[in-house]
Amino acid sequence: MITFEEGKQIFKLDTQNTTYMMGLVDDVFLGHIYYGKKLRSAGGSYRFRTDEYPMSPRYLLREKLGFFGGFPFEYPTGGVGDYSESCLDITNEVGQNGCELHYVSHHIEKGKPRLPGLPASFGSEQDVETLFIVLQDELLKVQVELQYSVFEAEDVITRCVTIRNGSEHTYRLEKAYSACLHVEKEKDMELITLAGAWARERHMDRRPVGHGKTGVSTVRGETSHQEHAFLGLVSPETTQTVGEVYGMQLVYSGNYSAQVEKNLYDIYRLTMGINGETFSWKLNAGDVFVTPEAILTYSDQGLGQMSRNYHDFMRNHLIRSPYLHKDRPILINNWEATYFDFNTEKLLDLAREAKKQGIEMLVMDDGWFGKRNFDDSSLGDWVVNEEKLQGGLKYLVDQVNAIGLKFGIWFEPEMVSPDSDLYRAHPDWAIQLKDRPVNMHRAQYVLDITREDVRDYVYGSIAKILRSANIEYVKWDMNRAISDAGSCMLPADQQGEVFHRYVLGLYDLLERLTTEFPNLLLEHCSGGGGRFDAGMLYYGPQIWTSDDTDAVERLRIQEGTALLYPLSTMGAHVSKCPNEQVGRMTSMKMRGDVALSGTFGYELDLTTMPEEEKALIPAQVENYHKYHSLISDGDYYRLHSWDSHAPYDAWMVVSKDKSEALVTFCQVLGRPGYKRILLPLQGLDASAEYILDGEDAVLKNGETVSYEGDLLMELGLLIGNSGDFSSRLYHFRRK
Ligand code: GLA
Repeated sequence: MITFEEGKQIFKLDTQNTTYMMGLVDDVFLGHIYYGKKLRSAGGSYRFRTDEYPMSPRYLLREKLGFFGGFPFEYPTGGVGDYSESCLDITNEVGQNGCELHYVSHHIEKGKPRLPGLPASFGSEQDVETLFIVLQDELLKVQVELQYSVFEAEDVITRCVTIRNGSEHTYRLEKAYSACLHVEKEKDMELITLAGAWARERHMDRRPVGHGKTGVSTVRGETSHQEHAFLGLVSPETTQTVGEVYGMQLVYSGNYSAQVEKNLYDIYRLTMGINGETFSWKLNAGDVFVTPEAILTYSDQGLGQMSRNYHDFMRNHLIRSPYLHKDRPILINNWEATYFDFNTEKLLDLAREAKKQGIEMLVMDDGWFGKRNFDDSSLGDWVVNEEKLQGGLKYLVDQVNAIGLKFGIWFEPEMVSPDSDLYRAHPDWAIQLKDRPVNMHRAQYVLDITREDVRDYVYGSIAKILRSANIEYVKWDMNRAISDAGSCMLPADQQGEVFHRYVLGLYDLLERLTTEFPNLLLEHCSGGGGRFDAGMLYYGPQIWTSDDTDAVERLRIQEGTALLYPLSTMGAHVSKCPNEQVGRMTSMKMRGDVALSGTFGYELDLTTMPEEEKALIPAQVENYHKYHSLISDGDYYRLHSWDSHAPYDAWMVVSKDKSEALVTFCQVLGRPGYKRILLPLQGLDASAEYILDGEDAVLKNGETVSYEGDLLMELGLLIGNSGDFSSRLYHFRRK
């Protein structure tokens, strides 16, 4: 619920368990008052300390700078005396930076409007209410509309900003962030971020926040393997189950910057948005610029509650795919089975074997087009290589369908190989700087999808393939970051727009694709998990989490990813051993149990794998069918973490009505001398009795074993000690 108390000049935004408040000072300055546990009524503007020195400008104009230096602006601007990180930097027609925003008006609407050209959350008039606050710089004649959408049930508030140039001049936006939040606490807060590398994505990183700025950012043109557009500001005592958490996340797939600044009064300012370092946007008279959306949530019950808020929010209000609540077909991907060395017969052999095992879809990965027999050619030439696929694509797809499997295909639409017909015909279609050889990665360039003609070609060529056969799944890959970010089309004064225009171009392509093929199952990918973000989830329900398919490495990667994203979004496959990325041998059972907490599939050669491992596939397939809807729609609880140096890792998913739960336990290292582990569960109905019916159920004389919910949560589940890389699934059903 959103209210504005005229007398107090306070906006109060309530969700089920939280309150967010802002207030006006001198009727013009909009400042942040509070975000946290739900409060009964509006109040707290004493936080602005306008009766102390320095008083507000209305009463003490000569000390306006002092006031600006400490005021918690809801949307701080640069150049006029707020010396902390600003959200908005505008250069005027004579090249000077300065902007002071004053409140003009506000209104409240049921529902939430769409954001033009950008992915954004949505909801019905019952789900969400939106507050629009209009601020203005009277001299620049620039209007800034702050938008707050309140999703009560999920304890989420989303924010974005619309900037209008109402003057007759041309300005330049040097920075336009999406959100700012001030947190004032008598404790030393800590920051959680997600950090990594290729094959090591989204490991959780926790550190103290000292004075000054600390944060995350990228200039690679994609979300990146290295950092993530998320800030988790937590109390020192915060764990999975207790303590305060402020989460802020961006719905964006390009360059971002997000930071926490602890100021001279020990107040924390969180800011987040498009990275100003690689952004400069020409704002002509009458132009409008819309920022991406930021998702804020607060929990006073630890990180686990924050994760559940984000999961529910994304499932209910961000992911549009019709597959969201459906079982995804169990797939076999030929990448690690064949790499580039395949043909129709090999794929059909794989399909036949897959069918025997209960697998439901064959995905043909990289290498089916142009002259691509290695990774150094043909990107951009989306024409079937009939030397490999004798009989053509339609023949292959029909045969795969006749075997009883669906068919999926891999594309890397945003790229071009220098060795391709496309590049030879259109060298200006690559992103590049004038006269400077482009730096290659994986022997490829990035296509300039800021251009409409390039987008039309890209879309046309992939849509043609998709129209030519019964293709039900696409893996949309992107295997290099952007460098040399220039466009041959844009004028000199708009080259600073390339990175953002690239992301808008990508969203345009994805929008076209999902409009023409609404039932396509779309999996995003970027050299593994380099573009795993909330923006991409708006278009496709799942993302390849990492090229690292080793079951142990996946524990950390999936834990970090699940901090924000529902398990149903994480592409996870069982692959062969020794593992292709790290060379580790793990049990087939553990590989299956870890992949089960994702979209589940296989990425190995079924025709040559060891028989004793293959024998486990039917049971894994059965587990998927039994547990997938619980895993994808239930509440996720992190119980233990290999990442925090425990010898084991454990998590569970509980159905919304608490009638069912699945615990996954992975013992990474054996613990000599210990006989057992007592693992306290979470999220069960304390007063209910649960029957253990999973594969590890202890059956005594055919009797099932049951436990009371409170006992399982307080004393814990008894788990016998076992060896390295062993795993177990425990399924509970309410009696
Ligand atoms: C990326 C993906 C892999 C595979 C290869 C193909 O690395 O992450 O899964 O598709 O590209 O080139």
